[in-house]
Amino acid sequence: MAWSLRKLPTLSDRQFAQWSTLLEERTGIHLVRQQRTLLESQVSIRMRELGLDDYDRYYVEVTHGVSGMMEWSTLVDRIAVKETSFFRHRPSLEYVRRYLQNKINNQQLPGSFDVWSIGCATGEEAYSLAMVINDCFELAALNPYYGITAVDISTTALTKAREAHYSARKLEEVKPEEIKRYLQHCDDGSYEVVSKLRERVCFTQGNIIRPDCMPHVKVDVIFCQNLLVYFRRWLRRDILNALVDRLKPGGLLIIGLGEAVDWEHPKMHRVSVDDVQAYLRDEREEQ
Ligand SMILES: C[S@@+](CC[C@H](N)C(=O)[O-])C[C@H]1O[C@@H](n2cnc3c(N)ncnc32)[C@H](O)[C@@H]1O
Repeated sequence: MAWSLRKLPTLSDRQFAQWSTLLEERTGIHLVRQQRTLLESQVSIRMRELGLDDYDRYYVEVTHGVSGMMEWSTLVDRIAVKETSFFRHRPSLEYVRRYLQNKINNQQLPGSFDVWSIGCATGEEAYSLAMVINDCFELAALNPYYGITAVDISTTALTKAREAHYSARKLEEVKPEEIKRYLQHCDDGSYEVVSKLRERVCFTQGNIIRPDCMPHVKVDVIFCQNLLVYFRRWLRRDILNALVDRLKPGGLLIIGLGEAVDWEHPKMHRVSVDDVQAYLRDEREEQ
């Protein structure tokens, strides 16, 4: 039987524990026992591609040397869930709009308006943020500096994000007037994000569980949705605490609804809006 068709043995309990621990230590992604099939199928598909049939031998390859690091990156691309779409949670994006409009109206704009989209997957979230921010500045006839740094652990997702080409299926939540202004219909039926938005978004590889590797700047908005949900509660809390230090005073943090139910921080207060989980960093802080 050809290599590609041969079925690999199932992961033993020990092997599942070994592989899932490696995944969690390196990415924060915590797999529960029910996700064993996901791990097993992705690891075994990759092993078949490499002509391997021994999970333990592949484990040694993945955990050693530079080639192991490159192989790990390929494997993570396969395991991480990258589901996303434009305006996936519109209320959160509309909250960013209100936040920026208030700053413009109260003449509180900083020198530059800086945003992070963390766990940006294939870029739809970052471009949705760019649409909202561009709307605000155009409405106010302002042309200030703004930039979105979009971070993900998956290099293939980032490549797709930089290409900025999307199928109509990803645009279901985009309003017709937004499509008209910000997306160009291509001959093959796909849509391309217009260059004035593309040039505002910088996609970069990063790992949220190593916040020190994130750019050492302070930003106005941190948008992080549908990522923390894959982590254990203590890790979600540690990450959120680290992100607070990356916000400018008065900065806004938005996560997915219910992704950190009981998180509190002395420098942050939760915004009282039902359908958005947002926190503002205090403007004035005790030294
Ligand atoms: C389900 S997608 C969410 C995409 C988008 N934020 C949304 O809400 O539609 C989760 C993304 O987080 C990325 N990811 C997983 N672990 C990560 C980590 N430790 N650091 C950065 N990104 C990570 C995955 O590669 C994936 O693209």
